Amino acid sequence: MFETLKPLPQDPILQLMQTFRDDPRPDKVDLGIGVYKDDAGNTPIMAAVQEAERRLLAGETTKSYVGPAGSASYNDAMARLILGANNTLIRDGRTSVVQTPGGCGALRMAAEFLRLCNPATTVWVSTPTWANHLPLLGGAGLTIREYPYLNRDTLQVDFAAMLESLEGAGTGDVLLLHGCCHNPSGADLDLEQWKEVTNLIQRKGLLPFVDMAYQGLGEGLDQDAAGLRHLASQVPEMLVAASCSKNFGLYRERTGALMLISETASINQAATSQLLSVIRSHYSMPPAHGAAIVETILEDANLNRQWQDELNSMCERILHLRQAFAESLTPAGDFSFIAHQRGMFSFLGITPEKVRALREDHGIYMLDSSRVNVAGLNDKVLPRVAEAIRSVL
Ligand code: LMR
Repeated sequence: MFETLKPLPQDPILQLMQTFRDDPRPDKVDLGIGVYKDDAGNTPIMAAVQEAERRLLAGETTKSYVGPAGSASYNDAMARLILGANNTLIRDGRTSVVQTPGGCGALRMAAEFLRLCNPATTVWVSTPTWANHLPLLGGAGLTIREYPYLNRDTLQVDFAAMLESLEGAGTGDVLLLHGCCHNPSGADLDLEQWKEVTNLIQRKGLLPFVDMAYQGLGEGLDQDAAGLRHLASQVPEMLVAASCSKNFGLYRERTGALMLISETASINQAATSQLLSVIRSHYSMPPAHGAAIVETILEDANLNRQWQDELNSMCERILHLRQAFAESLTPAGDFSFIAHQRGMFSFLGITPEKVRALREDHGIYMLDSSRVNVAGLNDKVLPRVAEAIRSVL
């Protein structure tokens, strides 16, 4: 059976990660895959995570199964992180959260759940969006439609085009939004725009689905969730996929969550039972370790504070790098948008040939689309990176 299969090219983000690792040049710079790096160019384990792991190792008594929903305490803590501690949706039993293997697990389980609700579901995704959204959602059998999001000339949100396109969505269609730190553009909706999108969702009877992969890395934990929280307060139903890869630095531990918001507590119970059966038929149960770390941190006041301090300094460092990067490129054009955008990514707006020249001649790695991981920069390499980019412009 297998001999008929043709080899597939690797996912471009993962391919670039491999090419970078294979590059022997000691001064190479990785601005490719979305991983946070410190000033020394490393992706360290956060101190709060290390302490939580130490406690877990000392106190762990069993490796018995966790169950399809994962840890209830983790799920409750994630609901509070996403919606805010005193959110009435939580109090009213209108929310449920399940622990998932990473944000990808949440996205895929949401897609499978949507297909169960309605096999003809259409999901609208932004152009551009994170490349893996398409196979994760489309692979579950959902129909994908795209709405224009980014103006390719200004590299800013084309909000009018987005709204106009979404007028073509039908009742029951799903609208995928990036909660903050839009991947790949860094161009986010402001709160007024979230409110307008909320009105459109209500008027047209759409189901909002928010991918929250970078909470805390844009402006702060609460600021980054403001749009999502407004939306959640207004609509009867909603889905949220959350990831702890970036804000807890737990990438390889595959730690995520899927939140369902329903109109009533009893609808939520029934919907959650269906979601749990979808999970059981896919991977049965999520891995425990990453979620146990997050739960340990969020439930301990001191560790929680320590984690938030670390996260805030990562966030501030990205904001500083955005400003410095924009300034150092500006002699060659207007790159001020980089300073205004949020999260790890921005497009430079240069051609794939120039991207290749930067990689081959200067050892500077970014995606062919010219998406740059700003968090991969540091003050030491920035002048050289900026000079190389200016030289190819
Ligand atoms: C990225 O966009 O680079 C990250 O989300 C990592 C990934 O899995 O693609």
